Amino acid sequence: MKILVVGGGGREHAIIKSLKKNKSIKKIYALPGNGGIAADAECVDIGAKDIDGIVKFAVENAVDFAVVAPDDPLVLGAVDALEAAGIPCFGPNAKAAIIEGSKVFSKNLMKKYSIPTARYEVFSDMESALEYLKTAPIPTVIKADGLALGKGVIIAQTREDAVNAVKSMMEDKIFGASGNNIVIEEFLTGPEVSVLAFTDGKTVKPMVSSMDHKRAFDNDQGLNTGGMGTIAPNPYYTDEIADECMEKIFLPTINAMNAEGRTFKGCLYFGLMLTPDGPKVIEYNCRFGDPETQVVLPLLKSDLFTIMKATRDGNLADTEVKFSNGCACCVIIASKGYPQKYESGFEISLPRCKNGAEFFVAGAKLSDDGKLLSAGGRVLGVTQTADTLAEAIDKAYKAVKKVKFENGFFRSDIGQRALKAGKD
Ligand code: AMP
Ligand code: GLY
Repeated sequence: MKILVVGGGGREHAIIKSLKKNKSIKKIYALPGNGGIAADAECVDIGAKDIDGIVKFAVENAVDFAVVAPDDPLVLGAVDALEAAGIPCFGPNAKAAIIEGSKVFSKNLMKKYSIPTARYEVFSDMESALEYLKTAPIPTVIKADGLALGKGVIIAQTREDAVNAVKSMMEDKIFGASGNNIVIEEFLTGPEVSVLAFTDGKTVKPMVSSMDHKRAFDNDQGLNTGGMGTIAPNPYYTDEIADECMEKIFLPTINAMNAEGRTFKGCLYFGLMLTPDGPKVIEYNCRFGDPETQVVLPLLKSDLFTIMKATRDGNLADTEVKFSNGCACCVIIASKGYPQKYESGFEISLPRCKNGAEFFVAGAKLSDDGKLLSAGGRVLGVTQTADTLAEAIDKAYKAVKKVKFENGFFRSDIGQRALKAGKD
C-alpha cells in the first residue's frame, strides 16, 4: 500500500513514524516533508498548499490513501480535491475545516449550540470595536478571524494595549485579510488542556490528553510560539472532567457540525481551559496539534492507519483506539531568536545511541553531502515515554543534551507545571 502525507513538520514526522508500524504500508510519500523525514519517507518537493500539484502526484503515483495534516491545505480544500480524484483521505473537507479557518464561525457555532466558551463580540469595522473597548472588561482577548500561523491572538492587559491590538489587526493588517473581522472575547483563567479526538462524524474517540507550552522561555516568559514542548497525559484532565467534556463539548460539537451540514471527519483538536465555571473551548483546530502529536502518537497502542481509514469510512465505532498507560514528554529545540528572526543552515547531529528517544524533525534540510542542517524556527522535537511523567521528562532531557546543534535553544521546564498539578 502507498500512502501520501501532506505537510513537512514535526507533527508529520510523528504521523509518518506511527504509520510505518503498519507492515502493509510499503511506501510513504511526504509532500514536501523535510530533511529529517527523508529518513522515513520519500520526500517530494510539492508544497502543502499546492493542491493541484498534490492531486496530480497522488493520481500519477496511484496512491492508496492520503493524510492531510496542516491547516492551510485542509481549509483550502485538499481533501475535497483528492477525494474527487478518487483518493481516499484522512482529514475534514473544506466545509468542515472552517471550524479552524474562521474564529467567527466557530464562536457563532458554540453560541448557537450552547457549547461552553468565552463570551465574545464580533466586529467587522474598527470604529465599533474601539467603541466597545471603552467599556470592555480588562484583560481582554482579541482574535483575528482567519488563520494566522497560530499567532492571531493578542491578550491585552490594558485598555491601551487592546486599542493597539485592534488597530494592528484592522488598520495595519498585521495578519493580512485574517484581520478583516475580529473577535473580542472574555479573558478566561485556568489550566489549559489539549484533547485531540478522532471522529467520523458519528462517533468521537478522544486520544490521550496533553499539555502544550506555548511561550518561548522558562516559566512561561517570552513570546507565544507554535509550541515549545508537550507532555501527556495532562494531569489536570481527570476522568470526571473527561466525561463532562464528552457530554458538554465533544458530542455537541460533532452534532452541531452535522446540523450545519458540515460533518467533520478526521482529527478534531479541542483547546480547552478548565475554568472555575467548568471546561470551556478556547479554540478548535481541524487537525492534529503540533507538538501535541509528538507525545500523543508515541502512546498509541492501536494501529494508526486502521483508525484513519475507519475515520474516513465511517466505521470508527467498531475500531479500537487504545493508548498505553504511560506518559510522554516532548522537548522542542528551536533556532536561537525564534519566534522572531533566526538564522538557518547550522548542522544538527543526532545521537547514535537513542535509548528509546524519538527525534521528530521539524525545520531541517539535507545538504548535498547528506548532513542535516537547520531550516526553520522549530527544528527538532525530542520525545521519550516512560511509566511516570517525572521519568519521561528526565529521559527526554537526557536525550536533548546528546543532540549537537550549536544554534539551538530549548526550555528547561517542560512538564514542571504538570508535575506540580494538584499541589498548587
Ligand atoms: P489560540 O491561538 O486560540 O490557541 O490562543 C493562543 C493562546 O492564547 C491560548 O493557548 C491561550 O493561552 C490564550 N487564550 C486564547 N483565548 C483566551 C481567552 N479567552 N482567555 C484567556 N486566554 C486565552
Ligand atoms: N500546539 C498548538 C497547535 O497545534 O495549534
